[in-house]
Amino acid sequence: MPLPASARNLVLVGFMGSGKSSVGREIARRWGYRFLDTDLAIRQKHGKTISEIFESSGEAFFRDEENLALQHFQASSGAVIATGGGIVLQLRNRALLRSLGLVVWLTATEEVIWERVSRNRNRPLLKSGNPRATITNLMTLRNRLYHSVADITVETSGLTHQQVADQVVAAVTLWSPGGYENNH
Ligand code: S3P
Repeated sequence: MPLPASARNLVLVGFMGSGKSSVGREIARRWGYRFLDTDLAIRQKHGKTISEIFESSGEAFFRDEENLALQHFQASSGAVIATGGGIVLQLRNRALLRSLGLVVWLTATEEVIWERVSRNRNRPLLKSGNPRATITNLMTLRNRLYHSVADITVETSGLTHQQVADQVVAAVTLWSPGGYENNH
């Protein structure tokens, strides 16, 4: 059994470019679990990219859609669930994340995040005049929120998705409620 009996799902949180979707898919493949992703669910529901949704309906609408996706996922078990980097902003989402299962925070240094996200242009929050400064500001604001929901933290800088998946699987295997790496 890949997950401890007390956890229904594996949930990945972290900043843009931390590798949640790629690593999540890999772990789901290894464990034979379903893969769910809030961004993907919202894209499929609206038939638009996240950037298009931000442009046509605004960020507040997108944040409500993230909350609806998390509510929808509450019916799931045996899934690996990747989330958008801003999912932790809402208090109600932080409670939903915790109730979904074991929460893993994927971290990376600011330099590594910048190197990863500057390769593509599909992140609306980084379309600002100074995306590098936006990353600094958002990371400062959000890190304590990721920390507050996480059972386990895995540092990903310099690692391939395969290597991160190895680390997550190893940490989950060692984890027990109230024990290893438990922040609560
Ligand atoms: C966002 C992160 C994105 C996506 C949207 C907003 C954020 O997901 O949900 O662009 O607020 O950090 P990724 O973390 O998968 O890039």
